[in-house]
Amino acid sequence: MNPLFVAPSLLSADFSDMGAAVRLIESARADWIHLDVMDGRFVPNLTFGPKMVADLRPLSSLPFDVHLMTLEPEALIPAFIEAGADWITFHVEATVHAHRHVETIRAAGKKAGIAIVPSTPLSVIEELLPFLDLVLVMTVDPGFGGQSLIPSCLDKTRRLSRLRMERGLSFRISVDGGINGETAPKALSAGAEVLVVGSAFFGSDAPAAEVAGFKALAARSTVV
Ligand code: DX5
Ligand code: ZN
Repeated sequence: MNPLFVAPSLLSADFSDMGAAVRLIESARADWIHLDVMDGRFVPNLTFGPKMVADLRPLSSLPFDVHLMTLEPEALIPAFIEAGADWITFHVEATVHAHRHVETIRAAGKKAGIAIVPSTPLSVIEELLPFLDLVLVMTVDPGFGGQSLIPSCLDKTRRLSRLRMERGLSFRISVDGGINGETAPKALSAGAEVLVVGSAFFGSDAPAAEVAGFKALAARSTVV
């Protein structure tokens, strides 16, 4: 079990003032900054590219957790490495040679993650697990913030957590989509260690209290 990291997602921020969003994440004492990159093909929405990462990079020393929702992520991985991403997670469904791309990320001294959409079974990533720093379990169908968590994805998170223990591995387990005060306890007890939080953070009147609330939940949660 790794310590909890709260990772607010800039997808729910005001795109006209991303600098302020980064400062808010810092002042709320969150742990990571989650950046959702969408290409309008792998998911039906568009966000931003490596320039956003490069421009925001000097504003924060928090780890930048880049989530690529793009087809053939290998085409963009070098640019995100260059831009200053610390963690780069891409979808196994979006590429053929996932292992090769994980190695590219790690060879650059960055942390590599694989993401899976709700309909992808764990068996698809079984062979990759020993090479990963993170597995991101999508708990909604990716593309938009503000959706409701799909409960079966937490069963999958729990199975992943057990599999990790059985195999003696140490990658982090992240959940992304529909995480809020109501769903976070369930995600934590299923084994989540990174909570990606979009609308529940940026839609809150008291984002620092949200972060503190998640951390308090984690402190009294046990994985079952
Ligand atoms: C969805 C993105 C998420 C999103 C989560 O495709 O990957 O990171 O921002 O937003 P909420 O927390 O609102 O579901
Ligand atoms: Zn995301």
